[in-house]
Order: sequence, then structure tokens, then C-alpha cells
Amino acid sequence: MPARSKYRPVFYCAFSAILKSCSRWQQRAIKPALDPDKMPQDVRKAFLEQVELMAQAFDEAGDAAAPGPMPDIWHANVLTVTAPAQPVDLIVTSPPYVTSYEYADLHQLSSLWLGYAQDYRELRIGSIGSSQHALNFRRGHAALNHIGRQIVFTLYSQDSAAAEAVANYFLDMQRVAERCLEFLSTKGMAMFVIGNTYYRGVEIDNAAHLTEALLQAGFRSVRAARRRISNKCATPYRDGVGRYTRSRTPRPLYAEEFVLIAHI
Ligand SMILES: C[S@@+](CC[C@H](N)C(=O)[O-])C[C@H]1O[C@@H](n2cnc3c(N)ncnc32)[C@H](O)[C@@H]1O
Repeated sequence: MPARSKYRPVFYCAFSAILKSCSRWQQRAIKPALDPDKMPQDVRKAFLEQVELMAQAFDEAGDAAAPGPMPDIWHANVLTVTAPAQPVDLIVTSPPYVTSYEYADLHQLSSLWLGYAQDYRELRIGSIGSSQHALNFRRGHAALNHIGRQIVFTLYSQDSAAAEAVANYFLDMQRVAERCLEFLSTKGMAMFVIGNTYYRGVEIDNAAHLTEALLQAGFRSVRAARRRISNKCATPYRDGVGRYTRSRTPRPLYAEEFVLIAHI
């Protein structure tokens, strides 16, 4: 493949997609874990199949895959990025769920193999929930909205470090709400896909927290559509203390999520 071939990024994506199945990384795990019993797939076969799958998807996309206007893609931190010169009409996003995934860790195979980082932990910097908010928890919590404060205090009695992590996440998401308002045109709309989680037996109502944050930021209305989803991973339940488990419990993990639609 010539170095300047326009197809090179497609092959990188295909390579990135097969890294887990071609390693002993535990399939569908939400935390990095080694599966000692796993037989990694043959790299060449998996790569060719992946490229074939992607080629078929392009064919099926038909006209939708035809070259149109070039998108302007910015790779940036939503908390600090300069606002676009022209306000945007629509924001669609699927923000992180608190305490569920450490994305930098989960994507480490791709980040390291494709050279995005020397040490994948660098990529944790700037991710939502990692800001410190000078916590100084005592002062930091004052900036939490009503629902955020309630959840953080409930959690605090169980696990103060977890409460601090959740407070960091909530404060970042409150800032996200403000930034979205700042980026949008006067008739703009923002959509968020977000689910609720359990942590240490406490329900973390990410959707209710974000709704309050959006209204507080200045959005006029927020509609919530509930969306049932099939189980995403191999351990789709929480046990009594909030740990993941494969056994059926009354706490399915992300059995539903919400689409919040916020209007200015
Ligand atoms: C629930 S995932 C959404 C994944 C996306 N829908 C997809 O299919 O690839 C949340 C995403 O938010 C990104 N994220 C975390 N902190 C961010 C920040 N400060 N600015 C922009 N994106 C961030 C994570 O890297 C992760 O990809």
C-alpha cells in the first residue's frame, strides 16, 4: 500500500477493528482483561474479512457514501475547544457514562498500535470526569446542581473516593451543557444519548442530572425519549453491591437509555 494512498486510513480502521479479536483481550469486556482461554483469530484472515465487510457497507451506502461536501473534523476537548466561528444548528452526542468505562484504557490497543500515544494513559487527560475542579471537595460540591449534589452525598457515605469521581464527572457534564448552548444557533437543538448506572449500590441518574444541567445552562426545554436496548456486554447485570455479574439480578445494566432533546 503506497504511503500516500487515499485508502490507507480505511486499512488502518480495519486493522484497528480486528486488534481485540486477534489478541487475548477479553471480548466485550468493559475493563481491560486478559482471557487466558481465548484463541486469537488468524490476523490475515480477520483483516481480509474486515476489509470485505467495510467494502460491502460502502456499497450498501450507495449515494450516501458518494463524495459530498468535505466535513470539517476537529479532534478536541469539548470543555476547552474554541467555539466554532459560525454557530451550529444541531449537536448530536453520546457522552461518557459516569464510572462505567475508562475510554483511554479500553481503546489502548488501537491507540498504541496506530501511534496515537506512547502511553495510552496520556489519553485520559481531558476526558470528561478527569478534571479535578480543585476538589477541595468541600468547595467543589457547591457548584453541583441539585440532583448532582443529592447523588454525590448519597454515595459519599459508601465510598468518598467514588463520590469525588462522580462529582468530577457531574461538574464536567454541567460545563458540557453550557458549552453546547454556547455553540448553538438561536434555533439550535442538542441531542444526548445517555443511560443511568449503578455504583456501589447507588443509582447514578446521569439523565436526570444532565436534564437539570441543560435547563440551568439556559435551554428552554428538554424532552426525554426512553429507548430500550439489548444487553451490551457479557456481564449485563449488577449484584447487590454494584459489581458486574453474569447472573441474572434485578439490576440489568443499561437495559434502557434516554435520548435527551434540548431546545434553545
Ligand atoms: C459513550 S462514548 C461515545 C462513543 C461514540 N458514540 C462512538 O460510537 O464512537 C463517549 C465518548 O466521549 C469521548 N470523550 C470523553 N471526554 C471527552 C471530552 N472532554 N471531549 C470530547 N469527547 C470526550 C470519549 O472518548 C468517548 O469516545
